[in-house]
Amino acid sequence: MRTAEGASDRAISELIPVANPGARFQLHEQALLEATRRVIQSGRYILGAETEAFEAEFATYVGARECVGVASGTDAITLGLGALGVVPGDEVLTVSHTAVATVAGIERAGAVPVLVDIDPVLRTLDPLALDAAVGPRSKAVVVVHIYGQPADMAGILAVANSRGLRVLEDCAQAHGATIDGRHVGTFGDAGAFSFYPTKNLGAVGDGGAVVTNDQKVSESVRRLRQYGWNAGRLATVPGTCSRLDELHAAMLRVMLARLGSDVERRRTIAARYDEVLAAGPVLSPAHVAGSEHAYHLYVVELAGREAFAESLRASGVATGQHYPRPVHLEPAYEARLRGHDALPNTEHLSRRILSLPMFSELTETQVEHVCRALETCLGGLS
Ligand SMILES: Cc1ncc(COP(=O)(O)O)c(C=O)c1O
Repeated sequence: MRTAEGASDRAISELIPVANPGARFQLHEQALLEATRRVIQSGRYILGAETEAFEAEFATYVGARECVGVASGTDAITLGLGALGVVPGDEVLTVSHTAVATVAGIERAGAVPVLVDIDPVLRTLDPLALDAAVGPRSKAVVVVHIYGQPADMAGILAVANSRGLRVLEDCAQAHGATIDGRHVGTFGDAGAFSFYPTKNLGAVGDGGAVVTNDQKVSESVRRLRQYGWNAGRLATVPGTCSRLDELHAAMLRVMLARLGSDVERRRTIAARYDEVLAAGPVLSPAHVAGSEHAYHLYVVELAGREAFAESLRASGVATGQHYPRPVHLEPAYEARLRGHDALPNTEHLSRRILSLPMFSELTETQVEHVCRALETCLGGLS
């Protein structure tokens, strides 16, 4: 087995990246190859024993009754909304401070996205803004636990319950995030996960899942993901083809066994960055009592981020912007969605965010290198 320490320290003369899924897969290459061989030899490549086992294991990890594997996180949102009864023309509320995929998944369900502003501290959906945006056609809300920071589910559920909204949690960035010890994805009617390679739980390719405690919802997603078939292969509803492959399921089982310790490692790295940034003026992610951030991304906030990013780069540290612009300012959506003109917190934040290197295979040497570089660049700010 290769060690992450040896492999990554050799690369320290190069830029330390924001994410590095290759390091993770190479570290577990032997186990992944064994899983691949098992699938090839099984003779079953779609919806077989590996997918079933992964679904059961991921449901157990999250603490949900049901898990249904699908082809991507975007599909998990689309099919999840369909299973919650969203039909073409319904409005679905969500944030603009998210991956484009959240809004794309809503539109693919035939629904009309309505954009809501964020809480500036959590950077997630603001329950008061949600309440103000509900209209007569509002059917559901998609809550995004952006970067792995759990949203204010108590506040959001209070609004959703009083206004009759179904709740889908977008947990694409939040595998391992909890509120009072309970995993995100289990607070609403359903949770949508992505297994894109860089995610906290990543596949060697695309994948996704819907988790739920409601058997009617899981049953519906099972039909929608495969031509609308029921157990007797009768097409009972119009469906699509969005299955999690056996190959990906088998490899995801290998990675799922490591997810708990990987998330703990992310938290340890985050705590080091927190220490370095404690004196300001660069803002680190918020800590909320009872909430455990999963640090898919470690995103700081500051004025003048371009110069700061440039000096980090000169010190060997890469940075990213998640995302360079909010969804309502992307050309495909610009000024087209209701709510686009009432997102001051979203627009303010989008000009200030910067993502630092964050993945579980970062070595101690690399983490210390990032910390020293941060200290140097912070010195340049004052
Ligand atoms: C917040 C969020 N939602 C949804 C998705 C969509 O996931 P996928 O790329 O697996 O379709 C992503 C992944 O990029 C994401 O970050």
